[in-house]
Amino acid sequence: MELDQVCGIDERKITIVGTGQVGATCAYTLMNSGLVNSMVLIDANRDLAEGHAPDLRHGMSFSQPCKIKVGSFEDCRDSDIVIVAGVGQKPGESRLDLVKKNAAIFKDIIPRIAGQNPRIILIVTNPVDILSYVAYKVSAYPMNRVFGSGTMLDTARFRSLLGEYCGVDPRNVHGYILGEHGDSEVPIWSQVMIGGVDFKTFCETYKSDYNDLDRDTIFSKVKNAAYEIINKKGATYYAIALAVTQLVHSILRDENSILTVSTLLNDYYGIEDTYMSVPSVIHRNGIERIIRITLNDREKNAIIHSAGVLKSVMKEIGI
Ligand SMILES: NC(=O)c1ccc[n+]([C@@H]2O[C@H](COP(=O)([O-])OP(=O)(O)OC[C@H]3O[C@@H](n4cnc5c(N)ncnc54)[C@H](O)[C@@H]3O)[C@@H](O)[C@H]2O)c1
Repeated sequence: MELDQVCGIDERKITIVGTGQVGATCAYTLMNSGLVNSMVLIDANRDLAEGHAPDLRHGMSFSQPCKIKVGSFEDCRDSDIVIVAGVGQKPGESRLDLVKKNAAIFKDIIPRIAGQNPRIILIVTNPVDILSYVAYKVSAYPMNRVFGSGTMLDTARFRSLLGEYCGVDPRNVHGYILGEHGDSEVPIWSQVMIGGVDFKTFCETYKSDYNDLDRDTIFSKVKNAAYEIINKKGATYYAIALAVTQLVHSILRDENSILTVSTLLNDYYGIEDTYMSVPSVIHRNGIERIIRITLNDREKNAIIHSAGVLKSVMKEIGI
């Protein structure tokens, strides 16, 4: 019997499928978080996972104890969460360009993961909305247990840039990017709140150089952030790993946090049978509830358009 079982300590187990830049950085942030005490690393390139495992273990005396092993899909069993971050994006390749290649890989690997019955399957691989839908379909899981990181990263970028612009801590900026994690994503300006004040009023009161057009510049920086970072260093991984760690936090600690994950929408401003991001309450069993956010007409039309973009890609690849 394992020591944890003797002491009655719960295993908090995460499996990471794909230990490239994103998966390995998730492993690092999760180890440092102290949230998990067991981690399995899986990669098609086993050598890569076998290189990461001891490198992480060697840092443990400066971090938090966690069993780390390299495994195969059978090792997903008993995982609280399986994080799927496999398959990279090449520079210049749009997220939607990847879809056919990755959907075929998902049809192979998701049933092998689901067969081990982990509690939650979390998709990070792009295009995350389409692949979350594919994972939902081929896993036969209920929708609350399979979802994507969606626009959590875009929302974090939005809050970071708004915080910089307004001179306040991004943690005190409330605002969302919704819809597709990609080119048709939508900034919800009507709901941006800073210290209990809407964005426009805050800026008109506290920012003498405020210009309405600055909103376009801020959103364009959010939307193009991934392309710019990938052009310079080949991949983005620190912020997404922290977003995933926040999500794991909300699940393992049953926190009921409201996060913009990619989830199955039905009867949502007329959107049907589409995975994309809206604010959702995250708890122990994944998605507890989807929030019907108040939108103005322009925002409503924009998220309906975003769903249409995703639907047409799904139609193109026969989902
Ligand atoms: N959702 C988001 O906000 C977000 C942010 C950043 C990156 N991403 C996505 O995360 C994914 C990974 O990015 P990366 O930079 O780590 O790429 P990477 O190329 O560094 O790593 C991908 C890893 O997946 C492994 N892999 C490929 N096929 C596999 C399979 N069938 N089973 C197991 N492992 C497999 C590869 O061997 C490689 O190690 C990409 O799809 C990227 O677009 C998503």
